[in-house]
Amino acid sequence: MLKLGVNIDHVATLREARYRGRGRGEPDPVAAAMQCEAAGALGITAHLREDRRHIQDRDVWQLREVVQTRLNLEMANLPEMVTLALKLKPEIVCLVPERRREVTTEGGLNAARAIRTLTETRKKLNGAGIEVSLFIAPDARQVKAAARIGAQFVELHTGAFAENYFAKAARNEELERLIAAARLAHDTGLKVNAGHGLNYTNLPLLHLVPHLVELNIGHAIVSRAVTAGLGHAVKEMLVLMRKYPG
Ligand code: PXP
Repeated sequence: MLKLGVNIDHVATLREARYRGRGRGEPDPVAAAMQCEAAGALGITAHLREDRRHIQDRDVWQLREVVQTRLNLEMANLPEMVTLALKLKPEIVCLVPERRREVTTEGGLNAARAIRTLTETRKKLNGAGIEVSLFIAPDARQVKAAARIGAQFVELHTGAFAENYFAKAARNEELERLIAAARLAHDTGLKVNAGHGLNYTNLPLLHLVPHLVELNIGHAIVSRAVTAGLGHAVKEMLVLMRKYPG
């Protein structure tokens, strides 16, 4: 069965918009993670960025306490992050590129050009019992590099597929790239995850990609939660306001 890992970064994005610098605030990504698991998610993904724009250190420690399924820590391959991961011990680390000015992770890792440093990090993490995934474009060169590095997983970047979803020819081309990369990864012994830009519209087509183990989805689910829950939230507030005397 294809597993769902929910990326809860955007819950923290919303909290930070109001409560940045405070020790707490709503909405709470940790409570959100518990709800996702209760609803059937088989993993929780959080990206601790170097600039701490959404998920904070305290979040990942609390997540480590409460997550019952599997905690996937997304992070850049930086010494500070590797040290933290070795202490935190998530079940899996997904190494991603990080650019300060990007809104969200934009491209995949250039694993082929960082084989040595990624292998070092992979070994350290594996040594602590943490599996390693590399977030890469669906590209044969990157898949082969991930195999050389010894990663357990690749997460295929579905952003280009998602962006081109309504341009049939380009979308089909991206789908073919994903299919070829998934086959190659599987043949070289890598397990295959995918994510970025997946939503309620484009997801069904992804069923054409073979060997997928898990999808990591964030934006679409958090967005759906906001819109689907808005009527309920308004009604709850109106109930409180009805108690106004006069
Ligand atoms: N996978 C990785 C490696 C990501 O960086 C992201 C975005 O943070 C996602 C999955 C989820 O992407 P989205 O929020 O578009 O579903």
